[in-house]
Amino acid sequence: MAASRLLKAALLVGRTSLRQHTVATRVPLVAVRATCCRGFQTSAIQREQHLQGYKDSDRHHGKYPARTHYCGQLRASDNGQHVVLSGWAQSPRAMSQDLIFLPIRDSTGVTQLVYRSENCPAHLKAQIQNLSAESVICVEGIVHRRPEGMANQKQTTGEIEVEITNIYCLNPSSPSLPFLPTQPQLPNEEIRLRYRYLDLRRDELQKNIRLRSVTANTVRQYLIGHGFTEIETPTLFKSTPEGAREFIVPTRKRGAFYALPQSPQQHKQMLMAAGFDRYFQIARCFRDEDLRADRQPEFTQIDLEMSFITVDDIQRIIEGMITAIWDKALGMKLNSSMFPHMTYHDAMSKYGSDKPDVRFDMQINQIESYVSDVAGQDSIDCMVVKKGSSLTGGDLKNTQKAFDLVDSKEFAFAKINENNIHQWLRKCGFLRHSQHIDSVQSKLNSKLNIEQGDLVLVNKRPNYLYGGNTLMGRLRLHFANTMQEKGLLQLDPNAFKFLWVESFPLFTPDEQGIRTWQSTHHPFTAPFDEDIPLLATDPAKVRGQHYDLVLNGMEIGGGSIRIHSPVMQSFIFDKVLQLEKYEYQRFDHLIDALGGGCPPHGGIALGFDRLMAILCNVASIRDVIAFPKAAGGKDFVVNSPSEVTAAQLKEYGLRLTEE
Ligand code: AMO
Repeated sequence: MAASRLLKAALLVGRTSLRQHTVATRVPLVAVRATCCRGFQTSAIQREQHLQGYKDSDRHHGKYPARTHYCGQLRASDNGQHVVLSGWAQSPRAMSQDLIFLPIRDSTGVTQLVYRSENCPAHLKAQIQNLSAESVICVEGIVHRRPEGMANQKQTTGEIEVEITNIYCLNPSSPSLPFLPTQPQLPNEEIRLRYRYLDLRRDELQKNIRLRSVTANTVRQYLIGHGFTEIETPTLFKSTPEGAREFIVPTRKRGAFYALPQSPQQHKQMLMAAGFDRYFQIARCFRDEDLRADRQPEFTQIDLEMSFITVDDIQRIIEGMITAIWDKALGMKLNSSMFPHMTYHDAMSKYGSDKPDVRFDMQINQIESYVSDVAGQDSIDCMVVKKGSSLTGGDLKNTQKAFDLVDSKEFAFAKINENNIHQWLRKCGFLRHSQHIDSVQSKLNSKLNIEQGDLVLVNKRPNYLYGGNTLMGRLRLHFANTMQEKGLLQLDPNAFKFLWVESFPLFTPDEQGIRTWQSTHHPFTAPFDEDIPLLATDPAKVRGQHYDLVLNGMEIGGGSIRIHSPVMQSFIFDKVLQLEKYEYQRFDHLIDALGGGCPPHGGIALGFDRLMAILCNVASIRDVIAFPKAAGGKDFVVNSPSEVTAAQLKEYGLRLTEE
């Protein structure tokens, strides 16, 4: 759930709190050197050349032969062909004075080049030996089928080698690169992010980024085939209190700022007013949020909006699009039964999360009706961790510490064994005060299927559910991870468990306590028709026509039917969200558009990076983004955000203050 808050904007410029970066000790020496100064070191020859003026003799300048094949292409059937390959040289391997191997790599694979003194021109030997790894070369040669028994089964080109007749060194690489993309033990992520162009040469990242492009193309084909029009919306937008913290862009007009869009939400709604009916965009969005594995300040959405539709219509389109993507990317056939629905209330009470991971069961039960005398108005969550008794006392103590539960009077747990299986309620903290425990013990055991060897957890919580998760929901994920690590729970690595989560409360108590309510998602979400009268009387009970698409416990998309009435939209801004006049006036363009003949409409945005991370089976969205940001929004490649000069600040009418 995207927490919706009214937040002060942060200036893009003038950040002074950038972290100093240290280097992990296990990084190879060469990498350590590289972080000490900006840029890696050049060779002695190169330095000499720089000192003596312009000399660039290591490089071949001018024409070179056109590539005939990619490095992953040649097969035994090409035996005897004269070929030209271009790519990156890997380290040469001299087997003897007369035999040197030189693998050449491009994005399609590796070919083994070979120098044999009896067949190859003599001057090539020194040229090969002087090549530093990652130099860019163009090679002419003759394809030879490898001798019997010498084929490399692991390489697609393993049946052949290319005997070199000529080498053009198009661009020698520095001999002191911070790391090689082919080295088995890579340096830490910070160094890899800084030299991203090297890291991107790795097979894994190459595959991820290329699959991203294929997927974007599949999305475009599918949506255009379903009558959508691709439309770009502005990047220089306006500050509007829509939800997340914005990036503000100063202009040369003193005191006037743009804001980068946190999503194209308002523009896509105006496009509906403009009669475009079915819009989509693969859109760049900007939110000044803290970095997480699934969060970037700059990320991409597959964003769409439709007029004259129902929730069902939008969900069918998305299911069709996901089916097309899975087919293209993974060759996997999905069908509509694989997109079940669940209400927010069920998700929160049964899984303790608004984005339940349903790849494993471990459901949460409410047991307050069994022990009503100690429950009062509250709910009591109870979760059984199968085989959880095998967790050690240390494991459980650490969990209690991590979740701040050591002194909690509302939380308790019991390891179930043959002695306590019929009286574990007596051992369970606050529950032992209930007068009903003896009479309900066996009922609970059979309802929750409690067996010896299980771990039972109970927690008393307020009955009213809001927000993204409950304590028991967080513990559910924690124990699922722990049990997996100990080999006591197995998840199918190929399982894709989609879920539509719906019927969210339209409003959530304001986190900052400034106002009474904040929008659970964004303020443009329409209420359920039958809940409209409650807008004025009981906002807590109003359900929104919002739906999130969840996959394996990750929110990959969210959307809603929108408010198309300017009267209702203004009422919500003014009376429910209690925005100040100057705040809701920032939405005047939207209110005007709704009042100027805007059809009923709705839409959704999928997080493209999150979708790709799941398709590529990687833990962080950074691995599917060519140039991602690191902690603190830092871009290590170009070293930004960075300071600007006093003259630039002056031009923008800005002055930095002490923190
Ligand atoms: P929402 O804020 O839920 O909705 O965003 C939609 C999806 O975008 C992805 N996402 C992110 N991915 C990476 N980094 C982030 N910081 C980030 N924030 C969000 C998530 C999320 O589900 N305009 C509405 C959509 C609509 O109502 O049509 C919106 O942006 O996968």
